Amino acid sequence: DWTMGAYREEMISKLKEQVGDKKVICALSGGVDSSVAAALLHEAIGDQLTCVFVDHGLLRKDEAKEVVGMFRDNMNLHVIHADESDLFLGELEGQSDPETKRKIIGKLFIDVFQKYADEIDGAEYLAQGTLYPDVIESVSFSGGPSVTIKSHHNVGGLPEKMGLKLVEPLRELFKDEVRALGHELGLPASFIGRHPFPGPGLAIRCPGEITRAKLEILREADAIYIDQIRKHGLYDEIWQAFVAILPVRTVGVMGDGRTYDYACALRAVTSVDGMTADYYPFTHEFLGETATRIINEVKGINRCTYDITSKPPGTIEWE
Ligand code: XMP
Repeated sequence: DWTMGAYREEMISKLKEQVGDKKVICALSGGVDSSVAAALLHEAIGDQLTCVFVDHGLLRKDEAKEVVGMFRDNMNLHVIHADESDLFLGELEGQSDPETKRKIIGKLFIDVFQKYADEIDGAEYLAQGTLYPDVIESVSFSGGPSVTIKSHHNVGGLPEKMGLKLVEPLRELFKDEVRALGHELGLPASFIGRHPFPGPGLAIRCPGEITRAKLEILREADAIYIDQIRKHGLYDEIWQAFVAILPVRTVGVMGDGRTYDYACALRAVTSVDGMTADYYPFTHEFLGETATRIINEVKGINRCTYDITSKPPGTIEWE
């Protein structure tokens, strides 16, 4: 794309000028915005950029490995994998209120990011993948698909608190332009087209208390569901799709025996901006095949439902 090519060059020289020989840190989530921001900065300032990937133990199957692998091994970025799952899961133990869970995760995320950032000698800038709609959106709403520190946890004051200046390389762009820039920078299409993933991760897809066992079951079920969606060529038609593990066990039969395992709900919606959404009209065949696979392949789930609630009145996530 000609326009994006020119924009990329312009941004690179602007970033070089702004940052000079100083160091920049960036919270990398693996979402489109932070990924494109990091890739662009890396082209502009190379080793002066350090990314911190905060792993709260609430990621999907293989997610940490894939994100860190791509940026560190394939693209040569300096990425710190902050594996703090014990800390997060420990603090979340026994908590079942959705907003309490969000608050705990949000606060720890900032603490952890700050701890790792403090260890990077002489960082002067904090990079954020803020987009143009974030800039003009003066009223903040809870949620929103982008996972920058700001919209993720609404901590506008972090750079000041840390004594850092802000770099926001995407603040003139809309989402589709960010994707185009990502292509231009050589990020794989599978990455650029990824469904949004909320900052609190699987915590809000595990209504009620979170346990490691539930998270493990959820990861397996979610991976099969997404695999089914990709195999049927439906991934790009859907805004977001995921499994929620329900806080209820139900009775089933398997072979000669009785089972007493968790029920899960499949969710898939179409949407333009996440503010309103319709449930995706899968065929019965697809749903039946997917439920059979999940129940047969995931130990711990014996019942599968499909959530046909639109937004409003429902929300996309279950919490
Ligand atoms: P809801 O559930 O509010 O979700 O209909 C709308 C969009 O926002 C995402 N979402 C979040 N993203 N932190 C985030 O970064 C959150 O706490 C959060 N809650 C919801 C959700 O995945 C969907 O894309």
